[in-house]
Amino acid sequence: MSPAPEETAENVTGSEETVHIVGARPNFVKAAPVVDALERRGMRQSVVHTGQHYDDRMSAVFFRELGLPKPDVDLGVGSGSHAEQTAALMTGLEKEFIVRSPGRVVVYGDVNSTLAAALVASKLHIPVAHVEAGLRSFDWSMPEEVNRRVTDQLSGLCFATSPEAVGHLADEGVPVGRVHLVGNPMIDTLLRHLERFDVAELRGRLELPEKYVTATLHRPANVDDPETVGRLVERLHEVADQVDVVMPVHPRGRAAFAAAGLGDHPRVWLLEPLGYLDFVTLVRGSTAVITDSGGVQEETTILLVPCLTLRPNTERPVTITHGTNRLAADSELPGLVSKILVGDTFGTPAIADVPPLWDGQAGERIATILAND
Ligand code: UD1
Ligand code: UDP
Repeated sequence: MSPAPEETAENVTGSEETVHIVGARPNFVKAAPVVDALERRGMRQSVVHTGQHYDDRMSAVFFRELGLPKPDVDLGVGSGSHAEQTAALMTGLEKEFIVRSPGRVVVYGDVNSTLAAALVASKLHIPVAHVEAGLRSFDWSMPEEVNRRVTDQLSGLCFATSPEAVGHLADEGVPVGRVHLVGNPMIDTLLRHLERFDVAELRGRLELPEKYVTATLHRPANVDDPETVGRLVERLHEVADQVDVVMPVHPRGRAAFAAAGLGDHPRVWLLEPLGYLDFVTLVRGSTAVITDSGGVQEETTILLVPCLTLRPNTERPVTITHGTNRLAADSELPGLVSKILVGDTFGTPAIADVPPLWDGQAGERIATILAND
């Protein structure tokens, strides 16, 4: 279908409004400091929520807690297969971009909303800026690897969180002038709210034991196949034989973990997904974390909590070289946790040797570049 004359690409490039595209839980945490820094510069901006995540605990709670302005629009796209969801995201975003005529679109991370927005904006000739560009797991079986690689190619501005991300972009031929090492906006958010992470208060409120391990798992490779989930539950029960395991359950794995009997162990605490403040507080008070989350690998690095990442690879190796992270197979979990319980934390530093520029100023750096672009 050819566009109506008033909807041509030429017409959507004129305005100077910056539109932020957010849709899934990690996007909100990354966007908050960027939106805030642009707001303080008085730049015209709006926030478009795609509705990829929609439960209160996966979405609205982050807006309430992080001071993110209520989205100007929620496209209500919701869940579906990759093709269904991406198609719905693209259709909704295209309509929205044509109406709004943004001067620039800012996308975050590597979720389907990120890819869809980058594709649609590019075809409407709207410049794209990608926050958290250049991360690579080199594992094409992960949807996020596809999303981030394509998004980077389509982005006129690539904001990198770590030096190796800059290197990956150079290796892929992204011109150096497009790439800026700015630090990590997810860590901006963590540092901004540091004083609100009150472990004693949370422990009292949730009646948690003094020592516990936090677990978060949502990657398709870990939670989609019942056989894998069954094996994982056995391992988590072996961990729970040693120490309480607290798991705020991502909706993706909820049914599979329940079917495999994860909650049957008396020392496994299954919780609904937590709001940001409670979640980071939970992590801060943990003896160790078992996760496959990208953001949690970074947060534990700053909080100095030993992190066992249940994956064969990570797109965030800086959390291993500078942080507390270690890749682990499920069979290694009980043994590694028992070592951590006696103080053997595989070289976890006592003082944060933080990755370069993870200093709480990433949002400011991004805003300065956007303001001068
Ligand atoms: C998405 C991202 C992933 C990111 C994760 C963060 C993609 C391809 N994946 O994965 O990179 O790490 O978010 O959490 O974009 N659901 C609900 N309520 C919600 C949202 C989802 O019940 O508010 C359930 C639905 O059954 C849905 C499933 O979770 O089918 C998966 O949601 P989806 O957004 O497709 O992917 P995530 O696994 O959340
Ligand atoms: N998070 C949260 N509540 C939870 C689990 C995670 O607030 O129950 C936060 C976490 O602190 C991090 C972000 O959500 O900032 C990461 O989201 P997720 O693990 O879903 O996505 P990923 O980073 O793996 O893409």
